[in-house]
Amino acid sequence: MQTSKAASPSADDTLLIQPKILYYGTPVVLLTTLNEDGSTNISPISSSWALGNHIVLGIGLGGKAAENLQRYRECVINLPDPSLWEQVERLAPTTGKNPVPTEKAAQGFTYQSDKFAASGLASIPSQQVRPARIRECPLQIEAVVEDFRAPAYAPFFAIVETRAVAVHAHRDLIIGEHHIDPRLWSPLIYNFRHYFGLGEPLGKTFRAEV
Ligand SMILES: Cc1cc2nc3c(=O)[nH]c(=O)nc-3n(C[C@H](O)[C@H](O)[C@H](O)COP(=O)(O)O)c2cc1C
Repeated sequence: MQTSKAASPSADDTLLIQPKILYYGTPVVLLTTLNEDGSTNISPISSSWALGNHIVLGIGLGGKAAENLQRYRECVINLPDPSLWEQVERLAPTTGKNPVPTEKAAQGFTYQSDKFAASGLASIPSQQVRPARIRECPLQIEAVVEDFRAPAYAPFFAIVETRAVAVHAHRDLIIGEHHIDPRLWSPLIYNFRHYFGLGEPLGKTFRAEV
């Protein structure tokens, strides 16, 4: 039988806090979506997670990405590595929304029509979807939107469920035919509004194949 180690209340080494954000460290995604004129917008996001070949995104309703995804239900989930953090940060104070919504303007956001030029990143055509990929991002996942909903409990955000339809990986990260070498790939991590790379490998789970 498993024995549980009950801590006495005095052993609690935590304090109750009220942080403004709960961004506890997730990969940065550069989400590309299709503008109304057929050009591609880039939006840095960090709220994403994968379930099989579905990827769920958390997107603010005041931004261009949300507008674009409702009009045209395709995107590319481009994953930058730590070497690209400054390009990501160049995009951080910008929006593809024109005019800039009042709330975003008050936070210092300005309109940027060409996010590729603004960031210095290069666009490359996608194969299955219309928004372009970002060439410098080592992983580029073309995806279609399966569901887009704004939950009643959080009227400023959309939960966007996507399905991957094509996965592109830089050649030097691939082992065999279909595996990413986890020793060579490192996501750019957004950790309480600071950028980090990964540290040294610690070990692997029992199901790891490489
Ligand atoms: C590293 C980083 C992570 C971000 N994560 C998110 C996110 O998960 N969801 C979101 O809606 N906005 C996120 N933002 C804010 C958007 O990038 C910002 O609203 C931007 O104006 C979106 O561009 P757009 O209006 O052209 O879509 C993040 C910004 C940065 C720099």
